[in-house]
Amino acid sequence: MTFTCISEPQASQVAIIGAGNVGSTLGQRIVEKNIADVILLDIEAGRPQGLALDLMEARGVEGHDRVIMGTADYADTQGSDIIVITAGLSRKPGMSRDDLLKVNAQIITNVTHQAIAQSPDAILIVVTNPLDVMTYLAWQASGLPPERVVGMAGVLDAARFETFIALELKVSISNVHAMVLGGHGDLMVPLPQYSSVSGIPITQLIDAATIQRLIQRTRNGGAEIVSLMQAGSAYFAPASSACLMVESILLNRSRILPAAAYLQGQYHLSDIFLGVPTCLGRQGVTQVLELDLTAEDFQALQTSAEAVRQHITIAQDLLKSTV
Ligand code: NAI
Ligand code: 2OP
Repeated sequence: MTFTCISEPQASQVAIIGAGNVGSTLGQRIVEKNIADVILLDIEAGRPQGLALDLMEARGVEGHDRVIMGTADYADTQGSDIIVITAGLSRKPGMSRDDLLKVNAQIITNVTHQAIAQSPDAILIVVTNPLDVMTYLAWQASGLPPERVVGMAGVLDAARFETFIALELKVSISNVHAMVLGGHGDLMVPLPQYSSVSGIPITQLIDAATIQRLIQRTRNGGAEIVSLMQAGSAYFAPASSACLMVESILLNRSRILPAAAYLQGQYHLSDIFLGVPTCLGRQGVTQVLELDLTAEDFQALQTSAEAVRQHITIAQDLLKSTV
């Protein structure tokens, strides 16, 4: 018997630049959910190729039909629908924050140029830290319209807040919905009045002191994991969060997700990428939702934006000093 499948449906393609912990786990999530084919790219010799082959060999067991390949050559990423950038260093002993900012600013600028040259129609999702600053630099390097560039952090921060709420109330995580705005760092702005369990605001379910404790744990979410792991940082929940954004964009689901989007007057802020509720569809950020904020939350968002803005300026100066 001969058997040939005549028409193979064309799958979408996601290029992941940086096949470290977040990048490789994201690749795994995307193919195992049958969302898209994946190209993993990294400068570490052999790593993306080895990881991709390992993931391909799990296909039969996991029961998906997506292809994942590893490469060091940007030409292999050609025609990608989405580019996710997870390339970068984490802070090493003896390295200042500015040192890290400079190194990652150079990496982001460099990899964005190369990736966009191969996939000029792609939507760009940035994961590398410091997230809001790197998203701004990637947007500048890409030359893309701002709605086609978005940073991943709000989904992760909200997922952490949701987890802590569900644990506190001993309810299913499926009933919990949380919203977190602002930059990805200590100054993020979790919003209890927009966080709910089956539609009931958590302010009606949890006392104020406990809510503050959960907010503080959310703000400290990344650091809590770093202090446990000692070397390296979180990657399972970050990969899940980036995957949700990839899925909403590729499948044009128009999910409302908090993410770093370019602001043009919303929340009285302009020319900055910052965590806000976005609608994510096939064209990228199709809408930024403006929530009514309390005076205190509005001010906290401005403070968070100011810190991001200062770091954008520092990063741009550091980049200029190396030209
Ligand atoms: P990792 O160290 O495991 O992986 C980074 C990878 O980038 C390495 O494989 C490295 O070889 C690669 N890389 C470095 N320079 C490159 C270049 N020029 N071209 C291609 N690849 C290059 O780090 P991990 O845990 O995967 O985290 C990646 C980034 O994501 C970090 O900046 C981290 O802080 C950030 N992150 C952001 C989160 C968020 O919520 N936005 C959450 C978790 C991590
Ligand atoms: C996190 O929040 C490191 O940004 C990363 O886990």
